[in-house]
Amino acid sequence: MRIAMIGSGYVGLVSGACFADFGHDVHCVDKAADKIEALNAGRIPIYEPGLEELVERNAKAGRLVFSTDIPRAVAEADVVFIAVGTPSRRGDGHADLSYVYSAAREIAASVTGFTVVVTKSTVPVGTGDEVDRIIAETNPKADVTVVSNPEFLREGAAIDDFKRPDRIVVGIENERARPVMEEVYRPLYLNKAPLIFTDRRTSELIKYAANAFLAMKITFINEIADLCEQVGANVQEVAGGIGLDNRIGGKFLHAGPGYGGSCFPKDTLALVKTAQDAGAPIRLIETTVAVNDQRKRLMARKVVAACGGEVRGKTVAILGLTFKPNTDDMRDAPSLAIVQALVDLGAKVKAYDPEGMEHAKGMLPPGVTFADGPYTAAEGADALAIVTEWNQFRALDFRRLKEIMKAPVLIDFRNIYKREEVARHGFTYAGVGRPKDGRAGDMQAAAE
Ligand code: UDX
Repeated sequence: MRIAMIGSGYVGLVSGACFADFGHDVHCVDKAADKIEALNAGRIPIYEPGLEELVERNAKAGRLVFSTDIPRAVAEADVVFIAVGTPSRRGDGHADLSYVYSAAREIAASVTGFTVVVTKSTVPVGTGDEVDRIIAETNPKADVTVVSNPEFLREGAAIDDFKRPDRIVVGIENERARPVMEEVYRPLYLNKAPLIFTDRRTSELIKYAANAFLAMKITFINEIADLCEQVGANVQEVAGGIGLDNRIGGKFLHAGPGYGGSCFPKDTLALVKTAQDAGAPIRLIETTVAVNDQRKRLMARKVVAACGGEVRGKTVAILGLTFKPNTDDMRDAPSLAIVQALVDLGAKVKAYDPEGMEHAKGMLPPGVTFADGPYTAAEGADALAIVTEWNQFRALDFRRLKEIMKAPVLIDFRNIYKREEVARHGFTYAGVGRPKDGRAGDMQAAAE
């Protein structure tokens, strides 16, 4: 198959490299000439484990090429994927579809022969219909069918998610698309990954419903964590106890400072807007959005409490800034709200993140300083807060920390430590939803 990938951002690049690895000829295009230049020089503009090697291997084999030549890529392709951004529109929270529609016009202008056009970008229900309409209007002779094929990739695990998906969802309106999409996903199909064919609108909604459900699941356990703190229960054991019920499932039940990232905040908001416009508001998700937004800022209270009720003039070391580990993505990261709240309360913040500091520098309030490692961040600090659970923070040397910190206080927003192991080194410990800990961990381990 000859595949054109319009948009070489996160989704386009990962999908393009994986399709090339399946043996297809993939042409990734992007309007940003500097991005294409970097890719052609072997530099990957994003941090994603395994991606550099995958791109290099397939580029060397000649199956993966990068250019700004959209007309050529489209003209040569059997399948054209639209993988451009759909950011939240400023003001109303709707997904901004201008990049998708302009890609549709460009495709219409250059397409030759029967071509399957696939929206991979996360798009609101009905976008496929509009892409179809734009192509037909721009080029009435175009022999095209428009398909929806949402991605379910997690940042930091995207290649594995692509190659070992729980399911592949394909929304078609024309049976001619079916064999083409089966061929595109042939290696996975042969491996018996469920390839679900449905209609286009249903497929578009599956993506939003999946992300909204997961966001709701996280928000649910976060609120249970708050309750645990008030009534003296342990959220990890609650999560383990409910997660063993197959109808609930143990995944996505880690309590923390709230979800962030490039998908959940944007997609939940877009679903809320779509549902309101359709006269079928989804109040559970409206509440999820509001609760999660508030939560991120409220998390600063945990730091204040751990510091004895006051952070003014105190130094707080923050470990982990990205919205989750193994990414450099800072979008809607809980750290942004927590750090801002601490600065507003008069604290000095020293931060360290293994990959996210470059992006964070433009996003955190002035006055925040950056360290080159966890221990330099902790030096002289009145409290240490782990906001993102990078592996390198999982085995901190507490003896050393005790010596270099002004006060031994740890706020563990990801519950990666046990209270007693930290307390043994003389640290005051605050986790999330674990007021007294004790036997914590057994049930959680069983559920995973
Ligand atoms: C998500 C979806 O998982 C993926 O299927 C979709 O295609 C894109 O959005 P991603 O945003 O990369 O992927 O990250 P994910 O691992 O899902 O985490 C999202 C946020 O939820 C993070 O901030 C994470 O810290 C938080 N989270 C996740 C929790 O707080 N608790 C959990 O149990 C799981």
